[in-house]
Amino acid sequence: MSILVTGGAGFIGSHTCVELLNAGYDPIILDNLCNSKSESVKRIKEITGKDVKFYKCDIRDREGLDKVFAENKIDAVIHFAGLKCVPESISNPLEYYDNNIGGSVVLCEAMAAAGCKKIVFSSSATVYGSENPSPLKEDMPEGKTTNPYGTTKLYIERILKDTCASDSEWSACLLRYFNPIGAHKSGRIGEDPNGIPNNLVPYITQVAIGKLDHLNVNGDDYPTPDGTGVRDYIHVVDLALGHLKAVEKVLGENGCFTYNLGTGNGYSVLEVVKAFEKACGKPVKYVIAPRRPGDIATCYSDPSKAKEELGWEAVRGIDEMCEDSWRWQSQNPDGYGD
Ligand code: NAD
Ligand code: UD1
Repeated sequence: MSILVTGGAGFIGSHTCVELLNAGYDPIILDNLCNSKSESVKRIKEITGKDVKFYKCDIRDREGLDKVFAENKIDAVIHFAGLKCVPESISNPLEYYDNNIGGSVVLCEAMAAAGCKKIVFSSSATVYGSENPSPLKEDMPEGKTTNPYGTTKLYIERILKDTCASDSEWSACLLRYFNPIGAHKSGRIGEDPNGIPNNLVPYITQVAIGKLDHLNVNGDDYPTPDGTGVRDYIHVVDLALGHLKAVEKVLGENGCFTYNLGTGNGYSVLEVVKAFEKACGKPVKYVIAPRRPGDIATCYSDPSKAKEELGWEAVRGIDEMCEDSWRWQSQNPDGYGD
């Protein structure tokens, strides 16, 4: 089975390609490398001992996509390609709407033209907004998104729902990720953010390695047990394995399906700091800082629908997530390099 993996050179995409190859699928990576390096593709081959086709191509490039579909018999698409930086989306919304929404429309048009109507899409817990109480369930109303990045996820979900409703040959899995962290056990692939990280764990790893002086804990006055924000961290390998189940789903049944991919457990910022200190064997310096605008107190999933319908559940705990994040960071202090 050939699976086109858009954004396959990125953090979650690279881990998913490893699991696809391990399971006997034939992933084809399409990525414009705007937020990744071709080195990750080399390392996917190194870890699995298998070859993988790579196209440097933009999802907005219809001719480029048509060529990929003409050269390969693609059974399904896993669609990771997109921009994901929340503050950047606020300062440059048009780029986000063009890349994420425009790109997804061009991709779906190329898929339909090629007769490949099976897609797994990287959505986010951000579509629940701030009004819904955790644990978040798929049948809750979508919330008001607080930034253009989140709005792109909400709109792409709607575009895929409408597309499935318009043509019964389509099948889509909308996967709402919670907070992916960790890295492959080999320490050869992991998250490699550009510049100063926005997200908690990449920031902590850079403090632990000495690149950043301290972590700013954004708010200690939330209505949570220790006052810091609570999130549902999920190991990226568990997340990757969820995509294999979602591919089986879209290949086996038509329609539009929505699943949370989370663990169902919430950890506070300070609990993550503590788990990370245990993993790296040294203290992580932090200071209490103001709340980050747009943040909510608590966000964690009810993951039971994915367990019941896909037969998937996350099995890796917070200690393993921190150990694997640390192994990647300590063995690759400069990520994939230049
Ligand atoms: P990432 O930036 O590491 O990977 C995305 C990849 O897409 C990158 O390799 C980038 O070069 C590529 N890309 C971007 N625009 C493209 C385009 N127009 N054409 C071709 N390639 C393009 O990010 P990630 O963390 O692996 O996230 C993957 C997906 O999951 C994204 O859609 C993201 O929004 C979504 N998501 C991520 C998180 C998270 O915390 N990491 C949470 C929820 C959802
Ligand atoms: C953020 C995005 C979300 C996106 C997700 C994955 C915002 C508002 N939300 O989610 O849309 O889908 O990343 O990319 O940006 N924290 C600190 N100090 C830091 C960084 C984070 O204390 O330097 C805290 C945050 O306040 C939060 C927790 O750590 O309580 C997790 O933050 P983060 O990793 O950025 O993820 P989210 O905010 O859940």
